[in-house]
Amino acid sequence: MKTVFINCSPKKRFCASAYFLFLQRLFTGGKKVSEKLRTPADHARILDQIRDAQAVVFGVPLYVDGIPSHVLRFLMEMEAFCRQNGLHPRIYCVANNGFIEGKQNEPLMQSFEHFCTRAGLAWGGGVGIGGGVMLNVTRILFFVDVALLLVNTVLSVANTGNFFSKDAWISFGENAALLLYFNLGVLFFLARMGSAIRAGRAFGKKYTRILIPSFVFILFADIFFFIISLFEGGLFRGWLAKKKYQE
Ligand SMILES: Cc1cc2nc3c(=O)[nH]c(=O)nc-3n(C[C@H](O)[C@H](O)[C@H](O)COP(=O)(O)O)c2cc1C
Repeated sequence: MKTVFINCSPKKRFCASAYFLFLQRLFTGGKKVSEKLRTPADHARILDQIRDAQAVVFGVPLYVDGIPSHVLRFLMEMEAFCRQNGLHPRIYCVANNGFIEGKQNEPLMQSFEHFCTRAGLAWGGGVGIGGGVMLNVTRILFFVDVALLLVNTVLSVANTGNFFSKDAWISFGENAALLLYFNLGVLFFLARMGSAIRAGRAFGKKYTRILIPSFVFILFADIFFFIISLFEGGLFRGWLAKKKYQE
């Protein structure tokens, strides 16, 4: 059994789709191939991998309540390719969006379902994940947590000669448990979809989100985007950048 995982985020690094597909891979057995779909130059390589695949899992960011246009272009080519070669892999989708409700991925899921009907492929279903950006940040925070544990262990060795710092481990455990809790809904549904993929059966559509109350999400999202704007432009770069005046 071969499964092809297609990361459809146009971002080069740190995309949420890569994180969710990484988790989905953990729950899927058999031969696994990971592909990245960013430009038309990727089409031929990915289609070649689909040739002998039984399942294809698309990891897709939600763009304006739908499928990003570069993915639509690929789906059109994939439809023709599958028809020409008599291929019928089962299609699954792990979609994620920036806003908190995973249910917002429903139109995207329906588009994939219609694509399968039109292309004569079996629709396996998918998981729609809300708060994708924030969940992606939790994996970065986990590595920060690990780094802090290492620093505290080094300090403990330097100060007391003791390798095991109880306080550092308790703090690490608490933070890791919190991050795990935020991801529980995602892990639950991806594990269940993984077992459906392994069995070659349909999973249906399920929606989940980062497990925090909406008002907390909004507060943190505001702070997050405020900080991002400091680094990547928008608010402050827009205000403070040197203005070019035409003579
Ligand atoms: C052009 C564009 C359109 C987007 N439209 C939506 C949207 O309609 N609803 C939403 O919740 N998030 C929307 N987002 C946010 C993305 O879905 C979100 O950032 C997602 O985590 C990106 O996944 P990636 O990191 O795998 O690319 C949009 C982002 C971009 C860049």
